[in-house]
Amino acid sequence: MATIESMTELLVDQLKDIYDAENRLTKAIPKLSKKAANEELRSALDEHLQETEEHVSRLEQAFKMLGEKAKSKPCAGMRGIIDEGSEHVGESYEDDDLRDAVIIGSAQRVEHYEIAAYGTAIAHARLLQHDDVVDLLEQTLEEEKAADKKLTEIAESAVNIDATEGGQMEDEMPQRRSSRRRQASGRQRATAASSSRSNGRGRGRR
Ligand SMILES: [Fe+2]
Ligand SMILES: [Fe+2]
Repeated sequence: MATIESMTELLVDQLKDIYDAENRLTKAIPKLSKKAANEELRSALDEHLQETEEHVSRLEQAFKMLGEKAKSKPCAGMRGIIDEGSEHVGESYEDDDLRDAVIIGSAQRVEHYEIAAYGTAIAHARLLQHDDVVDLLEQTLEEEKAADKKLTEIAESAVNIDATEGGQMEDEMPQRRSSRRRQASGRQRATAASSSRSNGRGRGRR
């Protein structure tokens, strides 16, 4: 294993790691998308797949700017996140909304890892005054952040709500019962506060 002797070499080494991660994602995202039931989630993943392909080519440009050949170095972190995600997504779920909630969680772990990796690489490129590389990687970083935000919006506006409501119609699993109980006790507190003059009848709800 060659010794890394300079900040430039360190940056190149990090880019090799990210290059491997992004290439893995071009294969992993379609698998997640195929399993997603929610249409908005599916199209968000498909859209991010296209961006991910662009991230790969931006990295190739960055290597070129640094006078290096585009090369991968196995990214154990991303491999682990992808493996864990496919394990979770592959479990059996009573309804598709629950799986969608897991898909969102897995995809967000990916985005956060990428955000961290690009953040470091950009900081190093900036220190080295490689402004062209900084500009390029910042475009990608913004897309990673936007993808993460979009996933949060989909979770909050549809998937998590559907996943919770699905459980209210059938026999409930214990975890869902306890989460509903937490929600219910939140409602009770609100009811108790608003009806404190009407001898706290809200308190008796269960
Ligand atoms: Fe990416
Ligand atoms: Fe991403």
